[in-house]
Amino acid sequence: GPRAAEEKKEYLYKILVIGDLGVGKTSIIKRYVHQLYSQNYRATIGVDFALKVLHWDSDTTIRLQLWDIAGQERFGNMTRVYYKEAVGALVVFDVTRSTTFEAVAKWKHDLDSKVSLPSGAAIPTVLLANKCDQGWANGSGVAIGPNSNPGDGSHAALLNQFCREHEFVGWFETSAKENINIEQAARLLVQHIMALD
Ligand code: GTP
Ligand code: MG
Repeated sequence: GPRAAEEKKEYLYKILVIGDLGVGKTSIIKRYVHQLYSQNYRATIGVDFALKVLHWDSDTTIRLQLWDIAGQERFGNMTRVYYKEAVGALVVFDVTRSTTFEAVAKWKHDLDSKVSLPSGAAIPTVLLANKCDQGWANGSGVAIGPNSNPGDGSHAALLNQFCREHEFVGWFETSAKENINIEQAARLLVQHIMALD
């Protein structure tokens, strides 16, 4: 009836953005929230915050409270505090540095060991293969895939399998620089979070 039509739904979701030093977490958030990009690297200290407001549909507003966690925190003791009550996460690596991909499983394990859904299941998490504007690491990038080239599909098969094994709901090649796939990744994450309500 007319009363139901007037009902506005509002949601606030705490989202973590994690991954190794310099992979582009802050840049992705800046691009997503402020439509800005900078080449300059200033390492995040501890955690930064940003708020993204999504007008999801005509009667649904979603606020994403983005927790931009410093890459150096993987070696600190604060992640348990930062992860508390998060309902979703983005784990980021840099396609030009295979060590940052090797660290993804460590970040995901740290996450799953410290936060989970009331059911005990992992919180929805999307994997971001960032800096795709630069092309993937080659040769030495064993963890990413030997002799693989961007666009030849080998990354896709490997990452699909990796996502199944490590309980990611999906992955995207992203670029904060060129604004590629960031909104798509956030939308997939929000869809999974909303499906739990
Ligand atoms: P920490 O705060 O130390 O954990 O790093 P971070 O993950 O927040 O990385 P940040 O966003 O500060 O980016 C590190 C560097 O990578 C900066 O010089 C960025 O300009 C650059 N960078 C980030 N995203 C991209 C991208 O999509 N493409 C390219 N080419 N460079 C990027
Ligand atoms: Mg940062």
